[in-house]
Amino acid sequence: MEALEIQQLVSEMTLDEKIGQIAQLPADCYTNNAGDRTGPVQRLGIDETDLWRAGSVLGWPGSAEECIRIQKTVVEKSRLHIPTIFMSDVVHGWKSIFPIPLALGSSWDPHLFEVMGKVSAQEATQEGVHVTFSPMVDLVRDPRWGRVMESTGEDVLLNSQFAASLIKGYQGDDKSESLAHNFHTLAACVKHFAGYGAPEAGRDYATVSLSGQELYEKYLPGYQAGIAAGAPLVMMSFNTIDGLPAHANPYLIQEVLRKKMGFTGVTISDFAGIAELIEHGIAADAAQAARKAFSAGCDVEMASVTYLTTLREQFETGKLSVQALDEAVLRILTLKNNLGLFDNPLRGLQPGQTHSIQQPAFREETYQAALESLVLLRNESSTSRQALLPLTPGKSVGLAGPFAHSSDLLGGWSAEGKQQCVEPLDAQLKRVVTDNLKVSQVACEPLAVSSQAIEEAVEIAKNVDTMILALGLPSQWSGEATSVTDLRLPASQRKLYQAVQQVNPNIVVVLVTGRPLDLTYLDSAPSILLAWFPGTQGARAIADTLVGKNNPSGKLTMTFPRNVGQVPIHYDALPSGRPETEENKQERYVSHYVDCANEPAYPFGFGKSYSSFSYSDLQVSSAEFSQDQPVTVSATVTNESSRGGTEIVQFYVHDCVGELSRPVRELKGFKRIEINPGESVRVSFTLTEEDVRYTHSMPAFARYSEPGDFLVTIGASSADTLPPLRVTLV
Ligand code: GLC
Repeated sequence: MEALEIQQLVSEMTLDEKIGQIAQLPADCYTNNAGDRTGPVQRLGIDETDLWRAGSVLGWPGSAEECIRIQKTVVEKSRLHIPTIFMSDVVHGWKSIFPIPLALGSSWDPHLFEVMGKVSAQEATQEGVHVTFSPMVDLVRDPRWGRVMESTGEDVLLNSQFAASLIKGYQGDDKSESLAHNFHTLAACVKHFAGYGAPEAGRDYATVSLSGQELYEKYLPGYQAGIAAGAPLVMMSFNTIDGLPAHANPYLIQEVLRKKMGFTGVTISDFAGIAELIEHGIAADAAQAARKAFSAGCDVEMASVTYLTTLREQFETGKLSVQALDEAVLRILTLKNNLGLFDNPLRGLQPGQTHSIQQPAFREETYQAALESLVLLRNESSTSRQALLPLTPGKSVGLAGPFAHSSDLLGGWSAEGKQQCVEPLDAQLKRVVTDNLKVSQVACEPLAVSSQAIEEAVEIAKNVDTMILALGLPSQWSGEATSVTDLRLPASQRKLYQAVQQVNPNIVVVLVTGRPLDLTYLDSAPSILLAWFPGTQGARAIADTLVGKNNPSGKLTMTFPRNVGQVPIHYDALPSGRPETEENKQERYVSHYVDCANEPAYPFGFGKSYSSFSYSDLQVSSAEFSQDQPVTVSATVTNESSRGGTEIVQFYVHDCVGELSRPVRELKGFKRIEINPGESVRVSFTLTEEDVRYTHSMPAFARYSEPGDFLVTIGASSADTLPPLRVTLV
């Protein structure tokens, strides 16, 4: 349909039909059996007319055939034959599950996000999904919050690049054309707008208190990157900003999202986020909640029905503008038209020719993603012993712990991924360690390791050269509504580690987790391989890395604290007026703790390799740079080992003097470089005037640079860089 036809269509719609379009109802309301429908429909307080008039479906109804049946019924029952739209959480895969986003971010490989987007789109659209509630681009600095697993971490530059790449994968290269004609593309929804990743005390859904400058400088750019990449939807967040819930925050939606960020697509609530305005205490009842949310600019209500049940009277009595309703409906119908749904409501699904994908098809893509997402946190050698990894052929190996035989490797938001398709680590290890491998047989639960399991692990450890302990948290302790106050592994796992460590210090820990953890009690472990939730091919990737078929290259995009007391903690903090330095560490009146170091256990950008890389010879092309003349910053990176590997080289900048206090360092570039044994590579980055612009407080959050000095450096992590050089912006 042409745009004018869509506008004409809106003008022909009745008030009820328009209100239907701004409602999204759960898929279970549409089950085929009317009797089954009664429960969910009645639970919501609506009727069959409301059901079939609703503009979109939340979630997937279980098969492509069901999508076809529902779509056909909606179009037939709709007087103007307006199709519905199926929206679902395809966050890190559909059937072929990739590592969780916080893991994939550790690859520092935007191309992998594009691959994940393309694979996800191909599998999900084949089964009838039109929109994914992804990418989640909330910047995070607090591992107590369980949803850090969905994010790509604490850095603006990385979050922005990963979001843009993922959307490109979902939607194809040409943002509008592809969605309308390539039915294997998926429309993206940037979430959660805004600042959801900074809840007070790390507790999900809690208050967010951010300064405007921080919101604009650190939190909004990720969403902006998603919008610039062409995402046609933005989802509101559960939290308040300045005391006002995002769902009913006119400033956030109208001034920031629409005017400043230029978003023209559809805004959608989060699950029942509009009805929850009553709990927030800014609405006395459903009608006031609906009125406040709609007038603030929240186009679609997901999963609650305040719009469906209270707006008709409010439009009829002039409490709300029907013009605003027409504008919202136009945006929703435009989205449907851009997906090709008016011309092809089934979007290529053919009755009888569709089939639910039985098996994940994209093995190699999810395997490669898992390989690049693994982070080697420790691999210490000593005078008496070489590093335990990669495992030495012929040496005996033991395996125990709650993730030795677990298929719980997919993580939260694993859509239609099935644990039955996940081979556990023990099976994969048997593939690569063909003899001298002893694997625990006693069941071992992550939250309660039994004394029998510990005894068995100790017996195995006594009789092997190297003991692998597969430790971690279950996936239900990761994701939405899983905030924690203690970042350590459960006590019974710590007891397992200590018992094994007593009889065999040669321990390799494989760590499965969706969040950074306090690992200080594992400091005696010579080797720790961080696996995150590595997805469908995760165990295969872990096993191949343990035996050296893969040389780990992942680096952290979120800081691992020493303990929860340091949280929130992030690499790009401001210096304070009394920064702790090497020179004043013993002084009292500096910014420090009396019971813990300031430094994290494992900093942003950190990750080891089986190779060893050295950095030298930092140079700048000029002592000055300007708007017209960027400066090139370069260094030599040498692979000092006998093993080829990939190094993620990082470029950091510090603004020495600004109108505002500036972060001690900020990532301004990175490159993944393959370096052969003994080879030296010159790695260069360009610093432009635009790179050093930042958000000022006045005039209202304007972004501009200031002349002055900057320290620039290159290194292996945010805490391991060459002595910086000074350049001046003129
Ligand atoms: C959830 C999440 C959101 C998700 C939505 C639909 O509550 O907050 O990320 O997309 O509901 O499942």
